[in-house]
Amino acid sequence: MEEREYSQATGKKEYVRNMFDSIAPRYDFLNHFLSLNIDYLWRKRLIAILKTHKPLFILDVATGTADLAIQATTLNPDKIIGLDISEEMLKVGQKKLFDKNKDCIIQLINADSENMPFEGGSFDACMVAFGVRNFENLEQGLREMYRVLKPNGIVAILEFSKPVNFPVKQLYNFYFKRILPVLGKMISKNDNAYMYLPESVNQFPDGANFAAILANVGFKDVKIKKLTFGIASIYTGMKYL
Ligand SMILES: C[S@@+](CC[C@H](N)C(=O)[O-])C[C@H]1O[C@@H](n2cnc3c(N)ncnc32)[C@H](O)[C@@H]1O
Repeated sequence: MEEREYSQATGKKEYVRNMFDSIAPRYDFLNHFLSLNIDYLWRKRLIAILKTHKPLFILDVATGTADLAIQATTLNPDKIIGLDISEEMLKVGQKKLFDKNKDCIIQLINADSENMPFEGGSFDACMVAFGVRNFENLEQGLREMYRVLKPNGIVAILEFSKPVNFPVKQLYNFYFKRILPVLGKMISKNDNAYMYLPESVNQFPDGANFAAILANVGFKDVKIKKLTFGIASIYTGMKYL
């Protein structure tokens, strides 16, 4: 994503909302197809990390079409709330909840992760999959997650990262920059969405840089778990008071 594209719109948030609204009907198919279904396994790893914490109230930030929220029902929580700024992504998610009979346990809310409509100390766990790199103000979004967590609550964040070793780095760059934008454009019918993906990953402060931001916001015991040669990572942190 280049600076000039943001300035043509009203800012990154509006750009991101419009983009996800426009690709929502094809998002799930594209996600699984372009990642060869690895995204499902990555989300499963995140849920496995949460399992030891036995969270009862879970917040799925940037829930999109609710895949992570649905996978989190395996933790047997009392309630999961999925929050997203894209109404169209939520509509697709809501249909999935009805179809899978998960609408009693999962509630979807159209709201901004940088200004969440919850009291402080509401959730045992806060999770995000492929959402944080889309935030307009990353630190503000993370501060909000810290605020809404209960003491001893855990944050778990799954996000793309940049592999550093040969030949994965080269293969990854070729796929992300040459193959994925072409396939993504053909299938999503959106010119920019899959150009935006590699750019947003490139600009995201991954690895130790992201861990440092989490620590700066107040999270303790920040850990990084690299997945699939570093193509994605799960970051965890605790809110201790
Ligand atoms: C790549 S999708 C990920 C969706 C889902 N978590 C998944 O794993 O498939 C990113 C989502 O982040 C949402 N998003 C971006 N900025 C947001 C914000 N400030 N507040 C809430 N949601 C946001 C987008 O609308 C989009 O649905």
